[in-house]
Amino acid sequence: MAFQGFARVWTPLLPSRSVTNGPVGVKVAGEKVVLFRGRDGKAAALVDRCPHRGVELSLGSVGDDGCIACPFHGWRFGADGTARGVPLNPDAKLERLGATPLPVREIGELLWIYTAPGTEAPSEPVPPEALVDPGLRRTYLETTWRCHWTRAMENMLDTPHLPFVHRRSIGRSMARRMTPSSRMEITWEEMPWGSRQGFRLDGKGNLAYLDFHRPNMMALHIPLPGRRFHMHALVVPVDDRTTRLIVASARDFATLAPLDVIFDRINARVAGEDQVVVETSDPVEVPPAGQEVSVATDRATLHFRKYYQEELRGSA
Ligand code: FES
Ligand SMILES: [Fe+2]
Repeated sequence: MAFQGFARVWTPLLPSRSVTNGPVGVKVAGEKVVLFRGRDGKAAALVDRCPHRGVELSLGSVGDDGCIACPFHGWRFGADGTARGVPLNPDAKLERLGATPLPVREIGELLWIYTAPGTEAPSEPVPPEALVDPGLRRTYLETTWRCHWTRAMENMLDTPHLPFVHRRSIGRSMARRMTPSSRMEITWEEMPWGSRQGFRLDGKGNLAYLDFHRPNMMALHIPLPGRRFHMHALVVPVDDRTTRLIVASARDFATLAPLDVIFDRINARVAGEDQVVVETSDPVEVPPAGQEVSVATDRATLHFRKYYQEELRGSA
């Protein structure tokens, strides 16, 4: 079944720059999707399976007419999936030979799809603000983890791992402040698009706060005096054991393009620290509440777990 456990949601999929003309094949929650751009440059998304004999359309090519041509028998499909030409069969009834389209949007510098093939989306994507703010410069780092997306998502919402996994990078100051009797308190607030958490260590607030945007986005707001700096993790399910992560930073300082590489390098290092730990999670997928033990600092991840179990896991 298409998009099992991740159905009827908007998800960011790729940075816009990844699809110049196309076609680009990408797997999302077990379903194959092909992205390309029509003649007007607008992004199109189809299920990456030719309706004729099931081969991947992404192995084909996009012609001057903006149609994607299947590599097998050359059938051509428009951005909305309609069949536009069937070679050697001038009498073919095109209206019953179409490919399956997916709702697609280009917002900010990202391509988004709605995970319900052949339908209109009932809503629009709601990206974290810093991903669309014209005053910020953004970088996008893509990486693949060998884990179920729910483990990667929880890792992004988990604060108490900072002084351990990241003790030599972003968790260094917390690791230094921590004593054997330290206490972390997590504050948590429901938002229209998900939730917002803050945290205090031994009664001292940290002005950083962290947002969960349903279904699969994290935005961390890092306090720097007089500056704006935001980190995002966009956690895209590929299949049961693979997750594609887009780490996006947004800043209003050091905005020259050649400096992007520095931000990407830091993001790669921090993500790599998480990856080695998270990829060992067993069971692969986050289990129902009660099957792992939890404590007070797991408040935010438990909330995600509840959302996943109740709203996404059974979706198809
Ligand atoms: S399989 Fe695509 S045209 Fe035949
Ligand atoms: Fe981490």
